[in-house]
Amino acid sequence: KKISIIGVPMDLGQMRRGVDMGPSAIRYAGVVDRLEQLGYEIEDLGDIEIGKPDRDIGETVNLRNLKAVVVASRKLADQVDLVVQKGNFPLVLGGDHSIAIGSLAGISKHYKDLGVIWYDAHGDLNSSETSPTGNIHGMPLAVSLGIGHPHLTFIGGYAPKIKPENIVIIGARSLDKGEKELIKDKGIKVYTMHEIDRLGMTKVIEETIHYLKNKTDGVHLSLDLDGLDPADAPGVGTPVIGGVSYRESHLAMEMLEESKIITSAEFVEVNPILDERNKTAIVAVALMGSLFGEKLL
Ligand code: ARG
Ligand code: MN
Ligand code: MN
Ligand code: MN
Repeated sequence: KKISIIGVPMDLGQMRRGVDMGPSAIRYAGVVDRLEQLGYEIEDLGDIEIGKPDRDIGETVNLRNLKAVVVASRKLADQVDLVVQKGNFPLVLGGDHSIAIGSLAGISKHYKDLGVIWYDAHGDLNSSETSPTGNIHGMPLAVSLGIGHPHLTFIGGYAPKIKPENIVIIGARSLDKGEKELIKDKGIKVYTMHEIDRLGMTKVIEETIHYLKNKTDGVHLSLDLDGLDPADAPGVGTPVIGGVSYRESHLAMEMLEESKIITSAEFVEVNPILDERNKTAIVAVALMGSLFGEKLL
């Protein structure tokens, strides 16, 4: 099986500079060698070109850098689409989480019922109406549900990309008011830190697999490194205390690998400027190792 790596040096979906260096940091942490050692053939497609921040705001009220994000998302969607077309596994390296808009646009046209596991401290279910920040990295999951500015929701020419019943959010501990309402309204499955503590990660992932397995024809893993506790993944722009541990995260990746349900993945929000000696990129690569079958014995 072949894995195609796409880097997306995107930092326009939020306000902390440096996350555009995420793909470099992850490559520097040895992603290609790590996956090659597991017997995969790796094709590194390099980085998508990201434009400049928008200069005028115009119609883009509370949608910072809408134009630049739309242009980059289209490019990413096209690349991911080609990767899926040739039968390779798309592995997208971020970049802030706004890139999930492009990833899901490229992937979803190949699946009738794409599942999404959103591993994140946040819901990323805002729109310009509900966002407290105007940062598009807080909106990609809503956009993929068809909620948001049409320039975002219609990338690839159709909306929505996914159905609410095919989503599982894991690790949530910071949700805005509008996001909570949307979760209730759409009946989106969420494992907050409360459920993770109560059930344990084993049960959470078993239930997630059971929930998605029969109704989806592919599952995209969108892993925001801020889903992990900031002690384990300090190099992120919006850290939230009380997160998923390094060990729980490895277990989750190992169980997902065993289930064979994951058909694409992205690892986002690695910001080497905020990091400690590239720790967060190293954790990301270690988790990718587990996701692709690495075992100690
Ligand atoms: N909910 C906040 C917002 O809308 C934070 C979003 C953080 N998202 C992320 N991908 N790290 O701005
Ligand atoms: Mn930049
Ligand atoms: Mn997050
Ligand atoms: Mn996120």
